[in-house]
Amino acid sequence: MKKILALNLKMNFNYQEVIDYVQELKGELKNKNVILFPPTIFLPYFIGNEYPFGAQNISEFDNGAHTGEISCTQLKSIGGTYTIIGHSERRKDQHEEDGTLNLRIKKALENGLKVVYCIGETKEERDMLKTTKILKSEIVNGLAGIKPTDLKNVIIAYEPIWSIGTGVIPTNKEIASTTAFIIDTAVNILNYKPRVLYGGSVNEKNIAELNKIANVSGFLVGGASLDVKKVLKMKETIER
Ligand code: PGA
Repeated sequence: MKKILALNLKMNFNYQEVIDYVQELKGELKNKNVILFPPTIFLPYFIGNEYPFGAQNISEFDNGAHTGEISCTQLKSIGGTYTIIGHSERRKDQHEEDGTLNLRIKKALENGLKVVYCIGETKEERDMLKTTKILKSEIVNGLAGIKPTDLKNVIIAYEPIWSIGTGVIPTNKEIASTTAFIIDTAVNILNYKPRVLYGGSVNEKNIAELNKIANVSGFLVGGASLDVKKVLKMKETIER
């Protein structure tokens, strides 16, 4: 299966920068394995390109009186096919918890969207040797009550929070063993074998080394996704 490169643009870019970015990507991403997650306000500028795109978050409600949210049907109506759910920045800034995330994942799957579900431990949790405990609870609670046939559309992104935007990355051996733990946990408890992405300070320079980790199915990239040249270099590396 093709490796995935999921690009989380976060809350970056203004109007003109988005126009330039989309223009520069034109014709370069034909393999459908690079997924774009633009800021909500700029989602429509990603319509009609050859690559899949999605939202950085989605509401657990259908439609209606939910100020500031976007619904699955709205996203689908412009051709979006993916959503990130549970990114650590939203868990922290918006106090999103596994219970709500579980409802959002269910709503997204009901609507035929594919989900990138983010899990990961803080520096303190890691220092206290709680990484596996945290990951297990995020897997079990976030994905509770979802049938294995639906879970096929959930990709798990393992993002150690201490690695996001910091340039500090776990060793390949650590990532491989944490990924193995995530896969085993999902197989044993939920009866599904997830694809697991690694996220946290991935860039065009370190991706070749990270790409050697056998059980990692791709990458979720923040900072380095803002530069099209870096994106194309990363894409080329994982497709080699
Ligand atoms: P980063 O962000 O690549 O800038 O570390 C990754 C993420 O938050 O998904």
